[in-house]
Amino acid sequence: MFTFKKCILPAAALLLLCSCQQSSTKNGQNKPMETAQMPNSDNFKATVNGKQVQLYTISNGQMKAAITNSGGRLVSLFVPDSSGKMVDVVLGYNHLKDYETYTKNGSYFGALIGRYGNRIAKGKFTLDGKTYSLPINNAPNSLHGGPKGFSTQVWDVVKTSPNSIELHYLSKDGEEGYPGNLNVNVTYTLTNDHALQIAYKATTDKATVLNLTNHSYFNLNGDGGTVNNHKLQLNASRFTPVDSTLIPTGKLEPVAGTPFDFTKPEIIGSRIDAKNQQLMYGKGYDHNFVLDTKVKGEHLAATVWGDKSGIEMQVYTDQPGIQFYGGNFMEGGDKGKSGSPYEKRTALCLETQHFPDSPNQPQFPTTTLKPGETFNSVTSYKFVMNK
Ligand code: BGC
Repeated sequence: MFTFKKCILPAAALLLLCSCQQSSTKNGQNKPMETAQMPNSDNFKATVNGKQVQLYTISNGQMKAAITNSGGRLVSLFVPDSSGKMVDVVLGYNHLKDYETYTKNGSYFGALIGRYGNRIAKGKFTLDGKTYSLPINNAPNSLHGGPKGFSTQVWDVVKTSPNSIELHYLSKDGEEGYPGNLNVNVTYTLTNDHALQIAYKATTDKATVLNLTNHSYFNLNGDGGTVNNHKLQLNASRFTPVDSTLIPTGKLEPVAGTPFDFTKPEIIGSRIDAKNQQLMYGKGYDHNFVLDTKVKGEHLAATVWGDKSGIEMQVYTDQPGIQFYGGNFMEGGDKGKSGSPYEKRTALCLETQHFPDSPNQPQFPTTTLKPGETFNSVTSYKFVMNK
């Protein structure tokens, strides 16, 4: 028997479905179409060391991000490409457990890094006459705060709003060999001017060393494919060359006339195979660039262009350096959010920072934080839209 419910409702549903599909074919003219999916938040629900882990989503209307308090990681960052299609521009996994499984490739994907980003030579430094020993996790050096650095810790969620999330971590005196109880607050905000802003704040009760950063792996074309054809510009006329263990030699050398000159936009892969000892040591780009800072506060440090997506990302920071790591040690073997493996150079990192090994290099800007002082720093990954 004919009924309104049986006939009209399915027809209406079909009409609705068609109109959605149509709006996605008119890509760019209507609302941005989303291709990749946000990871399922159920895959991130867990209790780790007695603390609740979850996936949080924030949005500013045009961009969306997913952040988990496990390692304070940025799991996804969706931005519209030049045709309005939503592209997830950071590497990561669909399940919390994958971050633990794929430690070789993925252990730092999107994570907050501390207490000291990058390397400290031989895991030793002296502060106020006392020598501290850190665990060696990147022989012969200590890397990214040690094997139990901030990227492996569950952060407390202090506050959330539709476009921001504030995390907190108390790194106890002696943790991973570092002195002082260090309270760190990090706030991720999707701002109205199309930026993912990361604001860091830290205080300590004993003198310590500190170098905080975020270790997102960007591929502006989305998931898969190398970043060798991305273009990069760095606001840096000098870099800190390294020894064979990737510890700075202490010199600040001009980039002019070398494959490290990104003062004008350059295709990342165009000089990567040049005969150059620094490139040999890093197996490609894995170096700290000294930012040409003319103003106090946040300034433009880097710009990257995705060759296929047309996405342009600008990095602003108040830090003195930026580590350009070209994904040379990525090995595949893992499966990322879209199911494709993360092979060598399928992402790049632009880690805003103080220079590596600063605690052992007095001529570098200091990384010492003393009781009574507050460390404050802001880095923004800003996307140029509506070109
Ligand atoms: C370092 C690389 C290291 C990578 C790990 C970068 O900050 O400079 O040498 O392999 O982090 O993800």
